[in-house]
Amino acid sequence: MTAAKTASAPGLAARGVSRHYAGVRAVHEVSFHLQPGQTLALIGPNGAGKSTLIQLLSGVTRPSAGTISLDGRRIDHLPPERICRLGLGRSFQTSRVFPALTVWESVLLGTQASALRTARAGLLDPLSEAVGAMLRTRGWRRRDQAQRERAEHALRLFGDRLWQRRDAPAYSLSYANRRRLELARVLAGEPRYVLLDEPAAGMNPTETGELTELLLTLRRTHPALGLLVVEHKLSLVRQVADHLVVLNQGQVLAAGAPAQTLDDPAVIEAYLGRVRTRPAESDAHLG
Ligand SMILES: Nc1ncnc2c1ncn2[C@@H]1O[C@H](COP(=O)(O)OP(=O)(O)O)[C@@H](O)[C@H]1O
Ligand SMILES: [Mg+2]
Repeated sequence: MTAAKTASAPGLAARGVSRHYAGVRAVHEVSFHLQPGQTLALIGPNGAGKSTLIQLLSGVTRPSAGTISLDGRRIDHLPPERICRLGLGRSFQTSRVFPALTVWESVLLGTQASALRTARAGLLDPLSEAVGAMLRTRGWRRRDQAQRERAEHALRLFGDRLWQRRDAPAYSLSYANRRRLELARVLAGEPRYVLLDEPAAGMNPTETGELTELLLTLRRTHPALGLLVVEHKLSLVRQVADHLVVLNQGQVLAAGAPAQTLDDPAVIEAYLGRVRTRPAESDAHLG
């Protein structure tokens, strides 16, 4: 695809994106294109630049060079909340839940992303919304109900894991449930694109299997959703991804169909070669 075509095509596109830190090429001239409905897995050894790339795509960090566009629109100069409102949701490598909020409150907060998108489209204005909330007008009650339904739907994606704990404070959750809650919060915002930074990190094989199933379900129920998953667990990658990008030392080492790309000797050497130096993690990494 030519550069001009890529610029106007739907999807999340990075073109020649770099981010350098005092001589460290955290991300160097990276290009890829996540299409709507596609699941792209991003893998690479620790320090390869995966989390930095997510920071760049979500607007937390600015590129030193290159461009990022969402459905043909440049977003690399926009603040993170604007990018979120444009329909790009993300999770963090270390889970970030608000400890004092309950599970229910956390996910309700997540629904604000789509509510704000409606407001931005000019369908709601903040003043009439505030008055509506005070007077509990019929329109406000309808929107409030819709938000509650979205929150419930997002929690129930995880079966009973979160739903039965909906009144518990987030700090009381197990590690795996905190990670689930973060994902539920992102999904409650009804994003069109989702970036997940190691969603299965710290999960045992059963929990990783459940997460894999959830991602496969999401793909079925949200056929237009674009999903970018950074993940070391190759069993998950092989099952959910239809495109794979391998980063090494900030650069794209290989890209293509997951099975073939994982068989590439350069990938095996750069990625799996390093894993052998960390035996405690090798089982999970070799998936
Ligand atoms: N804010 C920063 N300041 C300096 N160096 C950074 C910063 N963020 C990331 N790096 C460096 O960039 C490289 C890539 O890091 P990161 O994106 O976290 O890798 P990954 O997520 O693939 O493990 C590492 O060498 C890291 O030390
Ligand atoms: Mg990382």
